Amino acid sequence: DQSMGGMNQGGMGSMMDHGNVPSLASSEGSNELTIPPLLEKQQGQNYDYEVVAQQGTTEFYKGISTETYGYNGDLLGPTLTIEEGEKVEVKITNDLNEPTTFHWHGLEVAGEIDGGPLDEIQPGESRIITLEADQPAATLWYHPHVHEMTAEQVYRGLSGMLLIDSSDKEELAIPNDYGVNDIPLIFQDRLFSEDKQLNYNQLMDEDGTLGDVSIVNGTINPKLTITKPIMRFRVLNGSNARNYTFSLSNDASFTQIASDGSLLDEPVEIQELTLAASERAEILIDFSKLTAEESLAIINDEGVELLPFDVKLEDATANPTEKWTTEEPFLTPEEKEMPIEKNIELFGMMDMVTINGKKFDADRIDLRQEQGVTEVWEVYNKKDMMGGMIHPFHIHGTQFKVISRDGKEVDPSEQGLKDSVLVNPGEKVKLLVTFPEKGVYVFHCHILEHEDSGMMGQIEIY
Ligand code: C2O
Ligand code: CU
Ligand code: CU
Repeated sequence: DQSMGGMNQGGMGSMMDHGNVPSLASSEGSNELTIPPLLEKQQGQNYDYEVVAQQGTTEFYKGISTETYGYNGDLLGPTLTIEEGEKVEVKITNDLNEPTTFHWHGLEVAGEIDGGPLDEIQPGESRIITLEADQPAATLWYHPHVHEMTAEQVYRGLSGMLLIDSSDKEELAIPNDYGVNDIPLIFQDRLFSEDKQLNYNQLMDEDGTLGDVSIVNGTINPKLTITKPIMRFRVLNGSNARNYTFSLSNDASFTQIASDGSLLDEPVEIQELTLAASERAEILIDFSKLTAEESLAIINDEGVELLPFDVKLEDATANPTEKWTTEEPFLTPEEKEMPIEKNIELFGMMDMVTINGKKFDADRIDLRQEQGVTEVWEVYNKKDMMGGMIHPFHIHGTQFKVISRDGKEVDPSEQGLKDSVLVNPGEKVKLLVTFPEKGVYVFHCHILEHEDSGMMGQIEIY
């Protein structure tokens, strides 16, 4: 049985359905973790920010240059921060030799600027778009979504963090000093060829290209020096396909404060955190109780060190973050009782993947929903003779709530807004979905090779 039975049971990586999942090598901790820079506001331009997709090279291995893609640089991209309620003009430019799109994953924008598979920007072209953060503070991200080339472009390095910032969190005293006690962590796995290149065409796997090398924020063998007692980490599973179950090497618990699209209803103490591709969580780790001799690392479910910490506290007095509890219940009794309006069936593996029996067709609208009207979607991951595999299901243009898994209320760690949800083989997950804007959006499996193989549909919001 491959069901996880709940988000906190973990132990999933090793029994993952997906052929032979290569183990990741442990970090040697020899390189200080790269922190993506904050994207700086432009002065004296008719736009606030500029994001350029470009080619470059990265020295993952000493003395060897690997060809990579990045935004405004060689690999990954700067962190774009938008204040809650703020509107910004962003100039997007394609300096690659192939078409790309700029997708703002998790941002509730109108369909026409969502950067889906049909919004190609040709090589050499630019466009200025308006992004508005009309939604709660959250850790989102941006990446390309170009038809049948998403997996390769992400694999080569195109991804960046997109943060919605709010003033509320200061009242809650959540660490928010970017790069000091508020750190994005983009976890990815990569498979390098013998000459240490990312030869996607030779390496690709139709069920999602998996690597045996872990990179965090693009850093190989990373370590992170910790100077503050309470650290906030914005964790993104930025892999093409790999699922991660994270824990701490000393088995200590840590606090999850946010899901993909908002703070949780209340902070929750957990010992492990499972994220499928594209899912995010914000966590707090308390370093104040560590003794001087104790070492600490973020490990995966095989005990592999992904990110060792080098703890050098300036001052060990930890001001614990205030706990909050939300007055309203996560779901009202009425919401729990709402009838199912849309059925989604995920099926298949390799390139034989479908949604409701169909592959993506740019000329077909699969579903329609009225702007601002809440509907219940039931997402069913239908098993095949091999047992099936986990599919992370993602919807553009919305932050939804997970109502239940196989009829059971979800764990507190999923009681926040989400835009991607891990669906186990055989499982039925009910979602409460509202689209605040209009347009045509895609919904798809976030194993990027499945998406490229057409495990994707279109919904029109009218
Ligand atoms: Cu991360 Cu269709 O997106
Ligand atoms: Cu998306
Ligand atoms: Cu899939």
